[in-house]
Amino acid sequence: MGSYVITGGAGGMGQAAARRLTEDGHKVILIDVHERVHEVAADIDGATAVVADLGDNDQCRAAVDRAFQSAGQIDGALLAAGLLGTFGPDSRDPEEFDRVMAVNGRGTLVVADAIATRMAAAKTPGSLVLISSGAAFVAIGMASYSASKAAVTAICRELAVAYAEAGIRVNAIAPGLIDTEMASDAKTDPAILGAMLGHTPLGRIGRAEEIAAAAAFLLSDDASYVTATTLRVDGGHLSV
Ligand SMILES: NC(=O)c1ccc[n+]([C@@H]2O[C@H](COP(=O)([O-])OP(=O)(O)OC[C@H]3O[C@@H](n4cnc5c(N)ncnc54)[C@H](O)[C@@H]3O)[C@@H](O)[C@H]2O)c1
Repeated sequence: MGSYVITGGAGGMGQAAARRLTEDGHKVILIDVHERVHEVAADIDGATAVVADLGDNDQCRAAVDRAFQSAGQIDGALLAAGLLGTFGPDSRDPEEFDRVMAVNGRGTLVVADAIATRMAAAKTPGSLVLISSGAAFVAIGMASYSASKAAVTAICRELAVAYAEAGIRVNAIAPGLIDTEMASDAKTDPAILGAMLGHTPLGRIGRAEEIAAAAAFLLSDDASYVTATTLRVDGGHLSV
């Protein structure tokens, strides 16, 4: 059984993935900017916690160091830390762009690259899964967020190619609307919810456990021939 880093480990998807992976017999190291990550880890057998702001490069690298120190060997990671930023014209503000991109884009790159570099040096094959978004592919009035999630899909391809020879697969998941704290506004606004579900053949919001299940697949050897792809887990959103 393996050890997996989960960023955004205090969040909805991070917690669901932590529960799924530990139920499958793995250990998890949860990294999050929020102190509540300690409580989350204390509640899950096989979980430990690290507090770090992944918008800060030094904290990204220090958090990865701590994960390797505590686990010895890391077999993979789910990078789910992210922030939504603002809607509308404010989302096109350059400072807002830097703020959102620093965590969702650069933080994802720095953490994933640091983990893969150390896995490659240790000759440990494995798998990384990055959380992108359907917003990477369609305009939703959130320019900074969408750009940061499009960056994640590009980072996925780049790292997949860079680390293929080391036996490290890198994939992304593009979730649709998923029932977590991040989606609370969309969920309670009938106009946004109606627009989303009107274009979602499965006709409902997704559950964090459904993202965790997709991540568990991509992290496992069942996905041994899958790399550099972005898997949409969105109830078929925008197919109608
Ligand atoms: N919920 C959705 O509908 C949805 C849809 C598509 C993509 N996503 C993406 O899924 C991922 C997980 O989101 P979620 O739905 O679980 O939301 P969430 O808000 O419950 O979790 C996000 C977590 O990221 C952490 N985080 C934010 N900034 C950080 C930073 N600087 N350093 C470290 N951690 C930080 C937060 O503290 C939080 O625990 C995010 O990347 C999000 O963009 C969510």
